[in-house]
Amino acid sequence: MELAAPLNWGRRYVMVRPDHFRVDYRINPFMDLDQQPDPALSRAQWDALVSAIELAGGAVEVVEQRSDAPDMVYAMNLGFVVERPEGPLVSSSAGHVVMSHMRYAERRMETSSAATWFAGRGFTTSHVGRAGVGAHLEAGDAFAWGDGLVVGYGPRTDELGLKALAAELGVRVRGLRITHPGMYHLDLAFCPLDDRRAIVCPAAFDEESAAALLALVPEPLVITEEEALTTFAANSIVVGRTVLMPGAPDRIRDQLEAWGFTVQLVDVSQFHLGGGSIRCLTNPIDVRLGRDVPMRPGGEVVLP
Ligand code: ARG
Repeated sequence: MELAAPLNWGRRYVMVRPDHFRVDYRINPFMDLDQQPDPALSRAQWDALVSAIELAGGAVEVVEQRSDAPDMVYAMNLGFVVERPEGPLVSSSAGHVVMSHMRYAERRMETSSAATWFAGRGFTTSHVGRAGVGAHLEAGDAFAWGDGLVVGYGPRTDELGLKALAAELGVRVRGLRITHPGMYHLDLAFCPLDDRRAIVCPAAFDEESAAALLALVPEPLVITEEEALTTFAANSIVVGRTVLMPGAPDRIRDQLEAWGFTVQLVDVSQFHLGGGSIRCLTNPIDVRLGRDVPMRPGGEVVLP
């Protein structure tokens, strides 16, 4: 059996403090305007998540939430962030962010504030579309995996978004068609654990895409539709060897521990009211082109 190597990324995150978290509209099946989050409890859960990340050896940088952007707490969705490759020919910026161009107008204002924040931190930024025109891309749909990025499309990111991301970063993008309305972002159905293992919920995808994803993961931890939707188990993050999870059925926890991971449960149930969990609240900023994602000049999109 081949040995698995830990992920190189997942130690540095951007998060948005929930100062204005509400459910103001309904753009996914979890959101219910009659079920509002409690501000104090939301803040306490968010603080506990930050502490758990730090305890596991990670670091968090905080972006202010806009008062008109209740979903901005789901920082994962702001943009796809990469560190620059190291080497003499590359720019001296901290990295690059392909900003999301959200599917729903209700969230589009989030990215302009986020772009300003990233630019202030030395990142270059780019946009794949504007004001509903052009490609749609929502980070949370894209992860470094294997020979490129795996990117979910359908409910949020569209096919043009796959192409834009591949071309913008100069990488291979493997598109996976999401068909399940409740798993509208890839991060609700897929979580990389190390270089061989990942949590995968095949029920999120059409048949070809589910098969293609399973073929890319040597040792998948397959979860059911019910597990994905009720525990948000795939919406976990990995900090070193610690898996921070919102919930874990025994079977899933046992498998992770057998693989040598430490499972740390963090209750972020208030954020489930908006349809997101731990991964959605955290955006990793230490994915490196050329190390975690092989370069492929010009970019390439591969569909199953
Ligand atoms: N209410 C948000 C939306 O529907 C939730 C985003 C969840 N984020 C995620 N990365 N899955 O857009």
